[in-house]
Amino acid sequence: MNIAVPTREQREAKLEGMGCKRKRVEDIRFTQGKGNYVDDLKLPGMLFGDFVRSQHAHARIKKIDASAALKVPGVLAVLTAEELKGVNLAWMPTLAGDVQMVLADGKVLFQNQEIAFVVAVDRYAAADGVEAVEVEYEDLPVLVDAFKALAPDAPLLREDIKDKTTGAHGPRKHHNHIFEWSMGDKDLTDAAFSKAEVTTKDVISYHRTHPSPLETCQCVASFDKIKGELTLWGTFQAPHVIRTVASLLSKIPEHKIHVIAPDIGGGFGNKVGAYPGYICAIVASIVTGKPVKWVEDRIENLTATSFARDYHMTTELAATKDGKVTALRVHVLADHGAFDACADPSKWPAGFFNICTGSYDIPVAHLVVDGIYTNKAPGGVAYRCSFRVTEAAYCIERAMDIMAQKLGMDPAEFRLKNFIRREQFPYHSALGWEYDSGDYHTAMNKAMEAIGYKQLRTEQAEKRAAFQRGETREIMGLGVSFFTEIVGAGPSRNCDILGVAMFDSCEIRIHPTGAAIARMGTKSQGQGHETTYAQIIATEIGIPADDIMVEEGNTDTAPYGLGTYGSRSTPVAGAAIAMASRKIKAKAQMIAAYMLEVHEDDLEWDIDGFRVKGLPEKYKGMKEIAWAAYNSPPPGLEPGLEAVSYYDPPNMTYPFGAYFCVMDIDVDTGVYKIRRFYALDDCGTRINPMIIEGQVHGGLTEAFAIAMGQEIRYDEIGNVVNGSFMDFFIPTAVETPKWETDYTVTPSPHHPIGAKGVGESPNVGGVPCFSNAVNDAFAFLGTRHIQMPHDHWRIWEVAKGLGLHG
Ligand code: CDP
Repeated sequence: MNIAVPTREQREAKLEGMGCKRKRVEDIRFTQGKGNYVDDLKLPGMLFGDFVRSQHAHARIKKIDASAALKVPGVLAVLTAEELKGVNLAWMPTLAGDVQMVLADGKVLFQNQEIAFVVAVDRYAAADGVEAVEVEYEDLPVLVDAFKALAPDAPLLREDIKDKTTGAHGPRKHHNHIFEWSMGDKDLTDAAFSKAEVTTKDVISYHRTHPSPLETCQCVASFDKIKGELTLWGTFQAPHVIRTVASLLSKIPEHKIHVIAPDIGGGFGNKVGAYPGYICAIVASIVTGKPVKWVEDRIENLTATSFARDYHMTTELAATKDGKVTALRVHVLADHGAFDACADPSKWPAGFFNICTGSYDIPVAHLVVDGIYTNKAPGGVAYRCSFRVTEAAYCIERAMDIMAQKLGMDPAEFRLKNFIRREQFPYHSALGWEYDSGDYHTAMNKAMEAIGYKQLRTEQAEKRAAFQRGETREIMGLGVSFFTEIVGAGPSRNCDILGVAMFDSCEIRIHPTGAAIARMGTKSQGQGHETTYAQIIATEIGIPADDIMVEEGNTDTAPYGLGTYGSRSTPVAGAAIAMASRKIKAKAQMIAAYMLEVHEDDLEWDIDGFRVKGLPEKYKGMKEIAWAAYNSPPPGLEPGLEAVSYYDPPNMTYPFGAYFCVMDIDVDTGVYKIRRFYALDDCGTRINPMIIEGQVHGGLTEAFAIAMGQEIRYDEIGNVVNGSFMDFFIPTAVETPKWETDYTVTPSPHHPIGAKGVGESPNVGGVPCFSNAVNDAFAFLGTRHIQMPHDHWRIWEVAKGLGLHG
């Protein structure tokens, strides 16, 4: 019987390596309800903790009376700041260099702030206990308006630091001031503005919103008094960082802390930080000697564990009359809420906001960011973006549209005229970044062609004329955005978390039979790492992806890593995977050479094994090599086939994209319809095109939500007025537009496989595209900048303001 020898294509297909639309392996358990989430965990004798939270946004706490709560059947303990002071944990350091109350110490600074932690035998008893705790408040004046925070008579919020004239990021100029951060050349920028032919200046606000993952933040802490060991299961995007922080705070040695992040139901930045719930669960477990679970409810998640954005960006552009941008000047008022608890992995207090020169060759720029305190929840988090990058993209993409409008130029043509050209890469931006690679003109031209840009502008002109003649009540917007992302936090010179440098890691162990396990320092929250990481290894060392298990989230087994957020997994951990694979491949080559009795240099790699150059029949596959690695390695070479890599990237990666949105708006009702949304993304080498498409769909849906209505709103006394999914916009399949996706490929020159991140791109590019569509629809009626979010009611208000309702 003849056995057919597989062709090269068949061997390659069997690997399901990079470029393959491999089906997501994790979905087998997720679609069958077999995921393993924190709240699935049930330990013998496990207790539950629940918070008493502040009803007030700013008040002094006169008294906390827990006596009635302690009489509630099942309630075992009530922790307050007084108890936490005993273990020096009433306050905790934040990731941004500030301190934050774990439980209210003397006063509360935002609505729903944690005041006491009730520990009970089940969550019902804990909730009853929370109801029974009595708190006496004395109201204090409330500050919610960022623009009033630095007024001389603004209420004093942070009494603990009122006399500190220096904060973690330099001098403070007011009691509600956190930092001032500036970048760029002020003198050159001022000079460019003073001689500019055309200038614009607008306050472009990016409202406060929230990532709202379906699974809220939660943990189970279990302290073993005999061994002195703490095990902490939780919704952690960065498990190792949680272990280090827990060790520093609790003084439990780091090797005696076991942090496990099981399956996570979405993170989007919300699960990077350390929250009072984690500290209280740990303390409660130490106090009671039992495991303690803490699970946030939806209102708590929306109103207390972090927020995103709240940036007010006064943005100025200077340009020549024929449309060449000559300078950018931005001043940001950054509302950080009651404590500066930004989950910011960069060394700068405004993260990567200095990417705000965008995709344009702007010769000079100057940026100042003032961070301020208000009576709002602390944070913030990078909701599906690298830190402050979505704010930066929104700032420049709105400003470009406003300038194009002032110049009477088409916004796409204006962008084409100002793009960084392909031959300028690596490009050094005026605000300090080195963009690794890009081909913006090719991407933009492809996108304009695909959407039929010219025809759409012709149609719009006809519709505008018909509207002016009173023949229709519908107006049409054609939104354009072109973004440059900055992802892959990051080079240790740019990024760290509490001093921990931001490398990432991968350990690969090939078993004797040729199957493998890869352990990672990152942690998927739905991005499909188990699928795509295996594809990188499959291509690099020729083992089928199905034979490779990817494990994340267990600090006892995984090498130390900094976790998953800001699309850093592919740029950093993806590189670590390739580097660990290459170490294995180098050893495999030595073993194959010994097996084939040739010199290593006489071998060449061929899809799934090594072949002797010029003698194609002399071949050893990775499976045979793995067996030999353990059982008959070359003399003098130690047995085994495994490697670990810690990768500190030389630079960030700079994915980019061209997005277009066609929107029709009924001016009488404010109802909009997204007729088309086209997204072209360039994330360099594409590992799994299907997963990339899924990431783009998800990110665009979140961008749609944010631009078109999703907002955390406060009234003037600091109440969150939309703290549940009844009034916080979460689009369903009914509202979500249909997405058209496309791509170009411009590899990163410094990444081992040329890949850039992608998960955040659609959010970064999508938000300005929707907003530009709304603004573009109204521009011919005389508007200049309409603030987000653009819900139906607010669009209706714009039309009303223009006198369109008669
Ligand atoms: O850090 P995070 O996983 O959120 O973001 P990412 O690095 O952009 O990756 C999101 C998903 O897209 C992962 O499963 C990646 O492997 C995949 N991806 C890809 O297939 N090709 C790329 N060039 C970038 C990401």
